[in-house]
Amino acid sequence: MKFIGFFLLFITFAFSEEFITESEYAKMLYKNPRGIGCDKCHGSKGDGALIVKYKAFNKKTNKYEERSLMAPRINNLEFDKFKSAVTDSKGIMPSYFLTQNEILNLFEYITSFNKDKKDEK
Ligand code: HEC
Repeated sequence: MKFIGFFLLFITFAFSEEFITESEYAKMLYKNPRGIGCDKCHGSKGDGALIVKYKAFNKKTNKYEERSLMAPRINNLEFDKFKSAVTDSKGIMPSYFLTQNEILNLFEYITSFNKDKKDEK
């Protein structure tokens, strides 16, 4: 009996997976893109965010200085720039192994948060 219960649960999940919309899928990818989630660094809407604050020693002034590491805003880029940033690693930004479609989905999802573009629609 228990087994049937699990089986039904499995079937339910297997089918419900098919009914998610493109934007739900993109949201899922943004948070869990087969690697560390984009939202952890770029913020949930791609507006950019502070990753960490740290102190670094400046030899010239002989003092410790506050520095911060930021992830840039990514909801206002051209697609080509977006795509190459996701596929080629640069600096802190990891590279991801996503399909063309997944990158396009992500791009559409994240640019939907671009406040500057709202007026055009
Ligand atoms: C560990 C933190 C981190 C994660 C996770 C991360 N990024 Fe980044 N990303 C950065 C940093 C830092 C930069 C700036 C790189 C540089 O210029 O040195 C960057 C740059 C970018 C750029 C280029 C921005 C520009 O103006 O050129 C895009 C696009 C981007 N990230 C998208 C994504 C997407 C999409 C994901 C998830 C699939 C993601 N990032 C995950 C930290 C991160």
